[in-house]
Amino acid sequence: MDKHLPLPSSLPAWLKLNAHQSTVERLHMRELFAEDPERFQRFSVEACGLLLDYSKNRIVPETMELLMALARELELPRWIERMFAGEKLNNTEERAVLHVALRHRGEGAFPGKDNDVMPAVRRVLRQMETLTEAVETGAWRGHTGKRIRTIINIGIGGSDLGPALVVEALDRFHREGMQAHFVSNLDSSQLDQALAESDPESTLFLIISKSFTTQETMCNAASAQSWLIQHLGDPAAVASHFLAVTSKPELAMEFGIGHDSIFEMWDWVGGRFSLWSAVGLSIALMIGMRRFRELLAGAHDMDEHFRHTPLEQNLPVLLGLLGIWYRNFFDTSSHAILPYDYSLRTLPQWAEQAEMESNGKRVTRDGETVDYATCPVIWGASGNNGQHAFFQLMHQGTDLIPADFLAAIRCQEAWPGHEAALVANALAQSRVLMLGRTDEEMREALRNSGLRGKELAEMLPFREYPGNQPSNTILYERLNPRILGAILALYEHKVFVQGVCWRLNSFDQWGVELGKQVAKGLLRDLQIQHPERVRDGSTEGLMAYVQKKSRWDKK
Ligand code: F6P
Repeated sequence: MDKHLPLPSSLPAWLKLNAHQSTVERLHMRELFAEDPERFQRFSVEACGLLLDYSKNRIVPETMELLMALARELELPRWIERMFAGEKLNNTEERAVLHVALRHRGEGAFPGKDNDVMPAVRRVLRQMETLTEAVETGAWRGHTGKRIRTIINIGIGGSDLGPALVVEALDRFHREGMQAHFVSNLDSSQLDQALAESDPESTLFLIISKSFTTQETMCNAASAQSWLIQHLGDPAAVASHFLAVTSKPELAMEFGIGHDSIFEMWDWVGGRFSLWSAVGLSIALMIGMRRFRELLAGAHDMDEHFRHTPLEQNLPVLLGLLGIWYRNFFDTSSHAILPYDYSLRTLPQWAEQAEMESNGKRVTRDGETVDYATCPVIWGASGNNGQHAFFQLMHQGTDLIPADFLAAIRCQEAWPGHEAALVANALAQSRVLMLGRTDEEMREALRNSGLRGKELAEMLPFREYPGNQPSNTILYERLNPRILGAILALYEHKVFVQGVCWRLNSFDQWGVELGKQVAKGLLRDLQIQHPERVRDGSTEGLMAYVQKKSRWDKK
């Protein structure tokens, strides 16, 4: 690994941004808007069916120039090309990073003639097409001859969040008579609930696991298999009711899934970037292959935009660099994602994994400890619900919290009055977060509510809205597969941009391994009567308490 490169924090643009921040920190966005009538035009971009308004950020033109300079000093355009060329950017695992190939269009080789992955991608897409058609026409049926009506996706992390989000978000495109469940948690109540709502004769289980060793998935898959056999009374039934998506077909076969029921995944697709592969089989089964391809097309639109658009008008670059601006120069610790589109209510959870599992790291890709902050905490919820829960903190708390507002101009089911009110709320919240309220405006509002003199003065501090809270607004006309593909790819590439700026390998996740190993050890210990291992006092005490109260048999 290459240690001779200076850390990003010692680059000229980084140092200039540091100095520049102390000027910008003193400015209020209220004044910036008042001084510059062109601010919206200057700081907004439209591409791939999305309008990004980033004018409500604590920036002036020089800020963007410096951020672009930083991106150039870090050779962002070259890194983008390296990803699209299929270089092994995941250096700790010696793997290319080619989720963009999954949505690549056209007949040619990609990323190049020598490392063409498209034959494999097209083969699996055809396999998905055949399956979805067979389920749709009834050529594929359950063991007893019933048509498939229920899909149960068993997977966790990237093998769950992306497909679950897309299936939920595109519910108005669901094929009639089909339902989907997503089971990820070890707590069997989630599996139980899905099974209770399913008819074994017409249920198809999708076991999604790149590694095919993930404890949660294997445990749920085994229980689902027992349930099916119990109900249908024949182990042979598994063949018509279980499919697997994995890069370890030999393990899926050991589990009992037939060779032809296994969909291939590749080591060059990271789990959290995999919904575009057969990991998205639940999506294809629920909305049909034509619409699944539209989803891929939307992501491809964003890939092309990311690869070919100058940095200044490049949506993922803008989102990524603005994130760097706050995290590294304003010391913010979190970033909120606030969809004003009920269909996207789980987007924040998907983005949590995409961003935090990718860039929640403390050493550079060369193994050097960073001296700057990396990924902030990503969080959020449906914006409209958030207004009545956590927005108080954003308006009057002590933290600076940059946020993304995403809003559909037309929401899914148009009962009169809902659409306009929803957009109005999104715009109102980002406006109030930005403007706040001046002292004079507050006094006037209090006078209008009948307060005067001492009473008014006492109320003032509680009614203060400082404003100056930054946000991006992403608008689109109406959510459909293509727009959704573009939105998800936008965030994927934002992750890449920030990874380059922090000089991280965004594509491994070593931090999750130790917990898995320790859990295995503790599971063994919990199942024996007198475990002898010496642990820390807290774990020791908790284990003893659990053992005393537990119902399971100990050896
Ligand atoms: O434990 C983390 C993780 O490896 C994620 O990166 C991944 O998305 C998830 O677990 C599921 O992994 P798999 O698809 O191998 O079951």
